[in-house]
Amino acid sequence: MKAVKIRLPETESTNDYALALLSRNRPDSSCVIIADYQTQGKGTDTNTWESEKGKNLTFSLILFPEFAADKQFILNKALALGIADFVKTKLPNHRVSIKWPNDIYVDDKKICGILFQNSVVGNRLDYVVAGIGLNVNQTTFKSNAPNPVSLKMLSELDYNTETELDDLLNSIFEKYDQISVKDESQIEGEYHAILYRLMEWHNFIVKDSMVRARITGTNSYGQLLLETETAQLLTCDMKEVKFII
Ligand code: BTN
Repeated sequence: MKAVKIRLPETESTNDYALALLSRNRPDSSCVIIADYQTQGKGTDTNTWESEKGKNLTFSLILFPEFAADKQFILNKALALGIADFVKTKLPNHRVSIKWPNDIYVDDKKICGILFQNSVVGNRLDYVVAGIGLNVNQTTFKSNAPNPVSLKMLSELDYNTETELDDLLNSIFEKYDQISVKDESQIEGEYHAILYRLMEWHNFIVKDSMVRARITGTNSYGQLLLETETAQLLTCDMKEVKFII
C-alpha cells in the first residue's frame, strides 16, 4: 500500500493534526503525518508522550479501510504486529512482544505505543487514525513514563530515522494488506503467539482489586481474557485492567 507523506517540523500532536485534516479537508487516500517534534504529544488516557526533538519516530497514519467496523480490533492487532516485526528485525537478540492491547515491549520495557482514534459510522469504519510513537535514538527519558526504552539504548547504535521510517511503514502496510486477504484467525494466532506475559502467572489490578491471574488470550472484540488462580475467567476492557511490571 502507498500513502502520501506529510512532513512537519513541529506540531502539537500528529493525531490532532490528522483529525483536523479529516474534518477540514478529508484526504482521498491513506496519509502518513510525521513530525520531528510534538509540543503536546498524546498517550492513551490523559498521558502525554515524551519524545526529544528529531530523535524518534512520531507519526500518525490515516487509513480508510473498506472492511466492516467489527474488524477494527483485527486491524489494531495487525498494525501492532507490523511494528513488532520491524522491532524484531532491529533487535534480533531480544524478546519482543505486544503488551495488550497494543504496546510494543522489549523484555519488560516499552519501546512503542499506539494511540488509535477511529471513527465508526453505522457498521463501517469511516476512518482510522493510528498514532505511533517509537523510541529510536533517545537515551534518557524525563517524564514518569514507567519503563521506556529505545532501539539505541538496547543496541548502542545510532539510527537514521528517515530510513527506519520507510522500513517500519513497509512492515506495517504488509500486515495491513493481509487483513483482507488472510484468514482472521491467522492474524489472531500471530498476535496470540507474541502476547506479553501469555500464560504466565502475575499480579494484575482488575477493577481496583489485586488478582493473581494469567492471560489466556484476547477475544475478537479486543478484550483481554484472564484466568485467576481460583479458576475464575475474567473478560476485561482496556480501562479495567492494569499490569504490574
Ligand atoms: C501510548 O500511550 O502508549 C500511546 C502513545 C502514542 C504516541 C504517538 S506519537 C505520534 C502520535 N501523536 C500523538 O500525539 N500521539 C501518538
